[in-house]
Amino acid sequence: MEKYRINGGRALRGEVEISGAKNAAVAIIPAALLVEGVCRIENIPQISDTDMLLTILAELGAKVSYINKSTIEIDCTHARYQDAPYDLMRKIRASYYLIGSMLGRFGSAKTTMPGGCNFGVRPIDQHIKGMTALGATIDVKNGFIYADAAGGRLRGARIYLDKVSVGATMNIMMAAVLASGRTIIENAAREPHIVDLANFLNSMGADVRGAGTDTIKVNGVDKLHGGSYSIIPDQIEAGTYMVAAAATGGEVLITNVIPKHLECISAKLRETGTIVQEYEDSVLVKGASNLRRVNIKTMPYPGFPTDMQPQMGALLCLARGTSVITEGIYDNRFKYVNELRKMGAEIQVDGRIAIIEGGRRLTGAKVLACDLRAGAAMVIAGLCAAGVTEVEDIHFIERGYENFVGKLQALGADIEMVDVSETVELGDKIISLG
Ligand code: EPZ
Repeated sequence: MEKYRINGGRALRGEVEISGAKNAAVAIIPAALLVEGVCRIENIPQISDTDMLLTILAELGAKVSYINKSTIEIDCTHARYQDAPYDLMRKIRASYYLIGSMLGRFGSAKTTMPGGCNFGVRPIDQHIKGMTALGATIDVKNGFIYADAAGGRLRGARIYLDKVSVGATMNIMMAAVLASGRTIIENAAREPHIVDLANFLNSMGADVRGAGTDTIKVNGVDKLHGGSYSIIPDQIEAGTYMVAAAATGGEVLITNVIPKHLECISAKLRETGTIVQEYEDSVLVKGASNLRRVNIKTMPYPGFPTDMQPQMGALLCLARGTSVITEGIYDNRFKYVNELRKMGAEIQVDGRIAIIEGGRRLTGAKVLACDLRAGAAMVIAGLCAAGVTEVEDIHFIERGYENFVGKLQALGADIEMVDVSETVELGDKIISLG
């Protein structure tokens, strides 16, 4: 088993290129199942979530060809409805997209209840509401979800989502593209990756309109054809490097981004005194010597993204004054706070609110990655801390960040991936045995 070992205190400097968006890729790959033809998909991030989904698709009869490290061709012409590797499905949240894509293509679906990061209850009732409205019968038993469209083809419907849900919006969109008639999804989520999925489906012959607004209209078609598509850059990966540059007081040019997708993150960082300069497809971040406290409330896009909340939590430990973070999406997304406390952070958590007493110098410690973005937050904290920080359970981080250690090393970070057995604690020091 491996962990990250970080020797903190270095300002990040240089240039980093952003990979394809994880939360777009984990929807677009299952959506390829809807296409009877070859989908050539570029800018796929090399992360474990996409690897797992490609393996699942291959088990359903898809032919997956790797053109280069970020380009694949998926041919689902001969895909057939059959049992899939449920042990893989259980590990990722995005396995729920197989409900929509299998229902749309085969008229039936069997998946496991989704896995993914644990921030409290993460129901899928809105997914079920949408599939039921489209004419499917849904049954949840023994940890599996069974879906069946009577007669094999879904029929269009008007669906009002009770909660703004990224997953439900994308899942229903997928199921609707081959349904008979029109589907209207109201109170839809508006994230960039939702627009990306709609654009992918439309490039394969679907008729999806209004993605990116709160009302999406899908006119069902009989069949989708093959085509080519390139996934958008990852808004959250980009934001993570922006915060790391700000927290370490460095200067980093983050390339291959869509600045519009980063507007809320850039605005919040500017409030801390960080300089953020936007160019056509890159942003330059210059850390401030004295970071200012700010308040954050996470909201659905275009509000401040919940997936950037832990990273900002780490940064605000360094900002002078008291900052307040309100988590507007999940019940319990502050598990990383206990790990920051091991490094000297002073944070009080009360339900969905965290109060951060900033202006403190963090000190290196052995910490855990509690989930994907919490893990990224601990790396940011380690980069700023005095001394050595070790981050364990890094498999969470590897799910969503391509070449995280390599990209940080190229920016001057003293970070390495080591085997868990390679270091020991002597007193309050961490000693490398390598
Ligand atoms: C997606 O999760 C992302 N995951 C999450 O990113 C992200 O945090 C989230 O959207 C919000 O942006 C993927 O795309 C794979 P939701 P998802 O449905 O689809 C409640 C990361 O770090 N809800 O928008 O599961 C839910 O409990 C990950 O990359 C219902 O009540 O999120 C939550 O409180 C973490 N019923 C809120 O809605 C439902 O049927 C938003 O969830 C569905 C959701």
